[in-house]
Amino acid sequence: MKKKLIIAIDGPSGAGKSTLSKALARQLDYLNIDTGAMYRSVALLAQQWGINPHDDAALKKLCTGLSINFVYNDGLGKVLANGVDVSEQIRTPDISLLTAQVAASPSVRDAMLRMQREMGTGGGVVLEGRDIGTVVFPYADIKFFLSATAEARGQRRYAELLSQGVAIDLQQTIADVAARDAADTARTLAPLMQADDAVLVDSTQLSIDEVLKKMLAVVKDKETELAAKRE
Ligand code: DC
Repeated sequence: MKKKLIIAIDGPSGAGKSTLSKALARQLDYLNIDTGAMYRSVALLAQQWGINPHDDAALKKLCTGLSINFVYNDGLGKVLANGVDVSEQIRTPDISLLTAQVAASPSVRDAMLRMQREMGTGGGVVLEGRDIGTVVFPYADIKFFLSATAEARGQRRYAELLSQGVAIDLQQTIADVAARDAADTARTLAPLMQADDAVLVDSTQLSIDEVLKKMLAVVKDKETELAAKRE
């Protein structure tokens, strides 16, 4: 029987992590864990509870006994926080902003780290985030660092927002992407960073299918390598 792997996908926002980790998990019949959605859920609850995002003690309380689950219905993935479907509410621009603040809290990071390790330790998972290959699973079987230029990522985000009927400015969107990168990279705790042993995939000039093909080839090589070791 094939070993069920732990696959980490890290990288900046807009590089295609969500689409690719979902596609990879589907192909491999693995569980997809969107760790950004977990931080977003904490931010949403903090907003609902009226917690100051810099109040680490209050955030710690919020995280005590918190449950976050990923469920799949008719092929659609949903995020449940304390049993409530928050999939849509966590995607608003103000929750994105609040999440960046909440994600800097040591208590929140500690709670998310424990949950993510609990969910992923058995293998058969694709986890996407910023610190999976460096902090959460430094011994992941495969680590990908998915990137693209800030310009390309900004353009994708711009096209996505336009298709949703949101009127925005392209240059402003590129500047927002660059500002988010700077915040994620400059953070003291678990900053966005490529692990030394991560496979770098630059998606600037590639389609989703081309990136997925590259990733699947890496997974296949790893499975062959592990099978040969077991023989
Ligand atoms: O991937 P995303 O845009 O949904 O992430 C939302 C925020 O959470 C973003 O500011 C980065 C942060 N995050 C993090 O600090 N660590 C992770 N493992 C995942 C996301």
